[in-house]
Amino acid sequence: MKKDEAKRPKVLLKTFGCAMNFYDSEAAEGILEKSGYQVIRTGAEDSKTESKGAVDHIGKIVGKADVILMNTCSVREHAEDRIYGRLGMLGKAKRSQPDLIVGLMGCMVEEHREALFERFPQLDFMVGTRNLKDLPKLIEEVRARRVQVARIRQEGISIEYSDRIVRRGGFHAWLPIMTGCNKVCTFCIVPKTRGPEVSIPVREVCREAERLAAEGIRWVTLLGQNVNSYPGFPQLLEMLCGVGGLARVSFTTSHPQDATRELFEAIARNPKVSRRFHLPLQSGSDRVLKRMKRLHTFAEFREKVDWLRRLVPGISMTTDIIAGFPGEREEDHEATARALEEIRFDGAYIYKYSVRPGTPASKFTDDVPLPLKERRNAGLLDIQRRISREISKPFVGQALEVFVEGFSTKGSARLVGRSHAEKRVLFPGEAALIGSFQRVKIEQLVHDTFVGSLEER
Ligand code: SAH
Ligand code: F3S
Repeated sequence: MKKDEAKRPKVLLKTFGCAMNFYDSEAAEGILEKSGYQVIRTGAEDSKTESKGAVDHIGKIVGKADVILMNTCSVREHAEDRIYGRLGMLGKAKRSQPDLIVGLMGCMVEEHREALFERFPQLDFMVGTRNLKDLPKLIEEVRARRVQVARIRQEGISIEYSDRIVRRGGFHAWLPIMTGCNKVCTFCIVPKTRGPEVSIPVREVCREAERLAAEGIRWVTLLGQNVNSYPGFPQLLEMLCGVGGLARVSFTTSHPQDATRELFEAIARNPKVSRRFHLPLQSGSDRVLKRMKRLHTFAEFREKVDWLRRLVPGISMTTDIIAGFPGEREEDHEATARALEEIRFDGAYIYKYSVRPGTPASKFTDDVPLPLKERRNAGLLDIQRRISREISKPFVGQALEVFVEGFSTKGSARLVGRSHAEKRVLFPGEAALIGSFQRVKIEQLVHDTFVGSLEER
């Protein structure tokens, strides 16, 4: 195998966006490798980090790859701008490497479709999120005929597990259980890019989880745009906790309306379910929540959080917030700031509102000027940073049970693990510990990460 590696065409695959995209990239990698391609995956950039101008390998690797494939995200304008920037760069690279093939997959393909071909003549192919199987065929077509080709969406939407996934997570695996979304949050492009909700039957999810456990996976994260609208989600969680070999089950993302007491009770009963709950609030103002069509008030959200905390003491909670939604007044912004102080989330992803063409909110006037959005965003971030630190600080000096994921970086002597609340913990240790649970004494808090050492037994 190794010998002919040099001859196999090389695909550089770069992933942007959410966990669902990471899973799709694993599937794409499997499909391509099966067809004789060698896939190089470069450092991922997730949608939660809005780092500007992050240096990536694309510039350096052009010339070494035959195909460059980017798995894209549409959720905010900034995410799309990064792809446009990369496409510009690749257009220039093609002048010196004319046979370089450039392709896109993911939400931008679903969103803009063939229109992207006109705007970017350097773009050779596009593949929809439900057409990954056609990837090798598309690349072949470009190589043979040098035309722009796309395969986007089939009739009869379904999702299924591919037996060709190339998992890189070691002991952790993503496990999609549904895709798409039936909610209509006015700011959100997802219902348009991922379509209506489709679920994988319980039987298949369980079979896949058993297969993963048999392969040595110990931690699965259930994936979906709105996982807890999955029919019988609390029961599914419970069933997965019964799969021998699995030590931890997480899930993301949840909509408050579908986060029920029954679900909280299932979490409380099952210690294998991760003690981190991500529940997007978006705004602390009822007026804004209503314009966002989030289907709940702040008081109702608050009540759910109280229930969850009562049933699962010590659970870590994180959220998403949008600053500067159309029509957001100073008093609405203050309500959000108060909400952060009141609820005291462990962490929050705070985004500046960005218009997504075609969403219901795109018809509202984007009337909060950018500098004000930035000011509100920064104000909320300051509050949250302080709260996150206040919550994390008391752990210093204590021991946490940590699932050891691997070395923190290549060649490092430090291991990285996640506590039951999925907080990052770094500590010196050996490779033999990877995949096991260890007790780590926390000695320091560096930004959001705990640093410690193995507890003496
Ligand atoms: N349920 C989905 C939510 C997707 S979007 C999931 O799978 O995670 C993730 C977060 O991005 C949202 O919770 C929201 O806070 C933010 N977001 C979505 N659309 C946005 C927009 N137009 N402008 C700014 N932030 C947005
Ligand atoms: Fe988007 Fe709301 Fe669904 S944020 S993914 S429309 S729950």
